[in-house]
Amino acid sequence: MADKLTRNKNHCTDSYPSATASPTRRRLLQAGLGGTALSSLSFFGRPAFAAPANRPVIGFKAVSLSIEDRVRVPEGYVVQVLYAWGDPVSSGPAFKADASNSAAEQAEQAGMHHDGMHFFPLVENGQPSSTRGLMCINHEYTDDGLLHPGGMAEWSHAKTMKSQSAHGVSVIEVERKDGEKGPRWQVVRPSTYARRITARTPLRITGPAAGAPAMRTKDDRRGNVVFGTLGNCAMGVTPWGTYLSCEENFNGYFNGLETPTPDQKRYGIREKGAGYRWHEYDSRFDVATEPNEANRFGWVVEIDPRAPFKPPVKRTALGRFKHEGATVTQGKDGRVVVYMGDDERFEYIYKFVSRERFDAKSPSTAGSLLDEGTLYAARFGDDGRGEWLALEHGQNGLNEANGFIDHADVLIRARQAADRVGATKMDRPEGIAVHPISGEVYCALTNNSARGIGDAPAPDAANPRRGNLFGHIIRWREAGGDASASGFAWDVFALCGDPQHADAEKGGNIKGDAFSNPDGLWFDAEGRLWIQTDIAASALKQGDFARFGNNQMLVADVVSGGIRRFLTGPNGCEITGITTTPDARSLFVNIQHPGETANERSDPAKPTQVSSWPANQFPEVTGGRPRSATIVISRVDGGVIGA
Ligand code: FEO
Ligand code: CA
Ligand code: CA
Repeated sequence: MADKLTRNKNHCTDSYPSATASPTRRRLLQAGLGGTALSSLSFFGRPAFAAPANRPVIGFKAVSLSIEDRVRVPEGYVVQVLYAWGDPVSSGPAFKADASNSAAEQAEQAGMHHDGMHFFPLVENGQPSSTRGLMCINHEYTDDGLLHPGGMAEWSHAKTMKSQSAHGVSVIEVERKDGEKGPRWQVVRPSTYARRITARTPLRITGPAAGAPAMRTKDDRRGNVVFGTLGNCAMGVTPWGTYLSCEENFNGYFNGLETPTPDQKRYGIREKGAGYRWHEYDSRFDVATEPNEANRFGWVVEIDPRAPFKPPVKRTALGRFKHEGATVTQGKDGRVVVYMGDDERFEYIYKFVSRERFDAKSPSTAGSLLDEGTLYAARFGDDGRGEWLALEHGQNGLNEANGFIDHADVLIRARQAADRVGATKMDRPEGIAVHPISGEVYCALTNNSARGIGDAPAPDAANPRRGNLFGHIIRWREAGGDASASGFAWDVFALCGDPQHADAEKGGNIKGDAFSNPDGLWFDAEGRLWIQTDIAASALKQGDFARFGNNQMLVADVVSGGIRRFLTGPNGCEITGITTTPDARSLFVNIQHPGETANERSDPAKPTQVSSWPANQFPEVTGGRPRSATIVISRVDGGVIGA
C-alpha cells in the first residue's frame, strides 16, 4: 500500500564496494554521509562475504521506462491476465462491469488490490507440477470509490459487507492448458480447494497472546477466535507447505477515540481511521464500543491451501505490528526463522526463531512451531555490524517496572517493546528476501521523507539519507551463515534515485536501470533478485518522480550489482506479488490498484479517469473500471523467466 501519510552506483562491482575508491564513497562523502554509511561497506567486503559462485544469467533485453497504460515485458515474452478483481474463485458469479455485484457475490469472487501470493504445486506423477497448482493471493485493501456503483455515497450495511468481502485472501486452483498461441493458464472452475477468506471469516488465534485479557471481546470472551483478516500485504511460505498472509495497515479500519490512548496512538488507531466507515454498521470496528478488537489485528495468518475447511490461524508469537511480509528460512539446526518488516516510518525489522526444529517427517503438526519461540528486533550498528535484540518478557528491560505485564503484552505491543530495547528505526521496511544460495538477506526500505526533518530521528548508517524520497535496499549476513544467529554484518546494497537529478544525493547509486521506492523483493531459485516498485499514486510522474514513469519490476544480479528493468505497469498501479512454477517457466505477478487516484479513492462517476487496465490491453477481460489482477508471464521459446 502506498504511504498514506504522504505517502549509482553502489556497487557492487565484483565485490562489495571498497571504502576507498568507489563513486559511492565520493558521493556519500560529498553528501556528508561518509562517516557512518561507509564503514559498514568496507566491513561487508570480501572475503568474509564472498558472493555466491554461480551467478545467475540475466538474459532479457531491458524494457524502457513507461507512461503507457499497459503492462510491458521484454521482447520474446508474453503476458496474460489470469485472475482479476471480481473473477469467481470457483464456479461462482461473474464480475459485473458496473460493480453491481452484491456482497454475497463478492465473497465468492477475487477481492480487490492483489498483493503477496504464492504458487503451491499439486503433485502429479509423484512430482511437483508446473502445470497445475493452488495459489494463495492477498487482497490488501479496497478502493470503495470503484467497489460500488455509487462509490461511498449513501453508505450502507450492504456496502460495508461488500467492502469486508473484498478484503482477505483467495485460494484458487490453476492449470496450464497450452493452445495454438502458446502457454495459457486458467482458473480451474469448479475446484474443491477454492475459497475466499474475508474480513468476516472465523480464524483461530494461537500462541502466547491467545486468550490474554487484551484479546478478549464481547463476542469472544476467550480471546481465541476472531472474524477476519485485513490489510493482507506481503506473505511467506513455510517449509511444511502453508501460506503466511500478513496484516499490515489494520489500523485504518477502526474508528478510534477522539483522544487515543498512547498504545492506540503508537499503532495509528485514530478517530475516523482511514475513512472506511465500517464501524457505522459493524460495531467491532468502533473502538469506543469494542476497545480490544484492534488488538486482534496486525498479526501473521497461517493458511493451509490444501485444507479448504481448516480455519486460518493468527500466530501471535510473531508479534503485532503493521506486517509487510513473513519471509521464512531455517537455521543451521533446523529451527524456523521468519524475517518481518513493520512498514511505517521509523519502525523496525523483526526476526522470529522457533524454539523447536522443523521435522520434515511430521509436517502436518509443524504449524505449532510458530507458536513458541523468540521474537527479536534488529539494531544496525554504525560499524556494519548488527544484533538481534530479544523481545522476551523479563529480558532487556521488558518487565513490569517498565510497563510490560507479561509476554502476551510484549507481543501485542511489539513496537513499544522494540522501542524499549533500542532497535534501529528504519525507513519503512517492506519486502525481505533470502538469497537461495548464500543466505544473505535483502530488505527494501521504501522511503521516509521525514527522516532527519524537524524533530524526527536523524539519518544513521542504515538509513543514510535525510528526507529519503526514493528509498534504498540493505542486506545482511547472519553470523556463521546461520539464520538463527544473534548477530550479523550488513551494508547498503543500493540507494535508489534519479541519476539525472540535480541534487547528487537524490541521484542514488544504482548500477543499471533507474527506479524508486523498492517494495516487493523476491529471489528466484537461481538467485536473481526481483525488485518491485511502489511510487505512491500521489507522486507518480510528478516533481522528483517525473522521470520514473509508472511503477515497474526489475532484476538485480547481486554479485555485480547490475539491475535491469523487466516490466512496467499500467497507470496508477503498484507492482506487488510474485511467484513461479517449479520449472521457472511461468511467472505470476500482481498488478495492484491500476487507476489509483492521488487520494486513493476513485470518483465513481469517472472510474476510468486514470486507467482502463486490464480491459484496454486484454479485450477478453471485462472492463468498465480498472481491476487489480494476477498476470502470468511466459517466454515465447518456453525458457526460464529472466534467464
Ligand atoms: Fe502493503 Fe507496505 O506495502
Ligand atoms: Ca509500499
Ligand atoms: Ca508492500
